[in-house]
Amino acid sequence: MFGLGDKSVVGLDIGSSSVKVCELKKTRHGMLLTAGGIEPLAPDTVVDGAIMDANNVSEAIERLYQVNRIKNQRVATSVSGHSVICKKISVAPMSEQELAESIQWEAEQHVPFDISDVNLDYQVLKSSNPTAMDILLVAVKKDKIWNHTQAVIQAGKTPAVVDFDAFAVQNAYENSYGPAPSVCVGLLNLGASVLNINVVKNGESLFTRDVSIGGNQYTDAFQKELNLSFEEAEKIKLGKNVSGVDEETRRQLIQSVSEILLLEVRKTFDFFRSSPAGETIQRAYLSGGGARVEGLLNYLQQKLGIPVELLDPFRKIEWDSTRLNGTLLKENAPSMSVVMGLALRSFD
Ligand SMILES: Nc1ncnc2c1ncn2[C@@H]1O[C@H](COP(=O)(O)OP(=O)(O)OP(=O)(O)O)[C@@H](O)[C@H]1O
Ligand SMILES: [Mg+2]
Repeated sequence: MFGLGDKSVVGLDIGSSSVKVCELKKTRHGMLLTAGGIEPLAPDTVVDGAIMDANNVSEAIERLYQVNRIKNQRVATSVSGHSVICKKISVAPMSEQELAESIQWEAEQHVPFDISDVNLDYQVLKSSNPTAMDILLVAVKKDKIWNHTQAVIQAGKTPAVVDFDAFAVQNAYENSYGPAPSVCVGLLNLGASVLNINVVKNGESLFTRDVSIGGNQYTDAFQKELNLSFEEAEKIKLGKNVSGVDEETRRQLIQSVSEILLLEVRKTFDFFRSSPAGETIQRAYLSGGGARVEGLLNYLQQKLGIPVELLDPFRKIEWDSTRLNGTLLKENAPSMSVVMGLALRSFD
């Protein structure tokens, strides 16, 4: 094995329904998954992407480390939601140094928060226009990063990388499928509380949007309409039997939430298409635990009128099934896209 410099990190995704961990090593043949696990979180531990109970989260991280016997304490983690602004901007051509000096000023024109309250990052994009430079600007509120990294630090880990969920999914997608040249692809990561949308082409992100909709919406619908507890409602969503609930009611409630979800995806795709650099999205990949909602993938495919595939972040990854819980990982593969994208940061 080789390729493990001091840049190596363990992927750690703190989602609102569970914490996920993955560790990768480079081998002569490709990538080997050396650790991978999921630890569920109680419902109010993480609400809308904000960690409300850091103790619960740090305990989950410690358990994952213990069970998976992970040694590397440096982690790559990620954030998403309203406190993250990700925008493509155009500036006059300038040197790297000039850009570094002026990015703060440029960001002030585009970020709706006080610039002293955010952490900024940026990437120069390939541009066909010789009179302008395209920059991908990312601004994350400092208190969001603090909220997130505090739980990681409390678990005794070092947050070496703080990424953006949508970019982590893109990283996993590109590793599994390669950046399809000239094909405009929509990546849809449907978590428990957030849908991360990222439109990518030729290895670059063209547009991102986070929508407050997720698997919890289905659970909410069952809870409200059928007067059930969260646990019972969650069971029905997963296709398990709950007495007094017939299949037709279940199907109709799933359908009503899927319709709302479709509207959001459509709205976003239409908005992107009508933007100055917009174009038609030709294919989509669905990930996140919400991708497992019965019939959702086919429904989106049919209504959007483009191929929609399930994103498999393990497609090009080998693992030793005697050491890892292969059944758990395979079953939860759609949920592992963010964490796999984070684990892959070791090799950027
Ligand atoms: N088999 C299944 N059928 C339907 N829904 C499922 C299934 N498995 C998982 N889910 C749902 O997927 C969601 C969890 O997905 P995921 O792990 O991607 O979210 P998360 O990362 O914890 O949340 P977020 O990123 O939104 O904070 C939950 O709402 C869960 O109920
Ligand atoms: Mg998530």
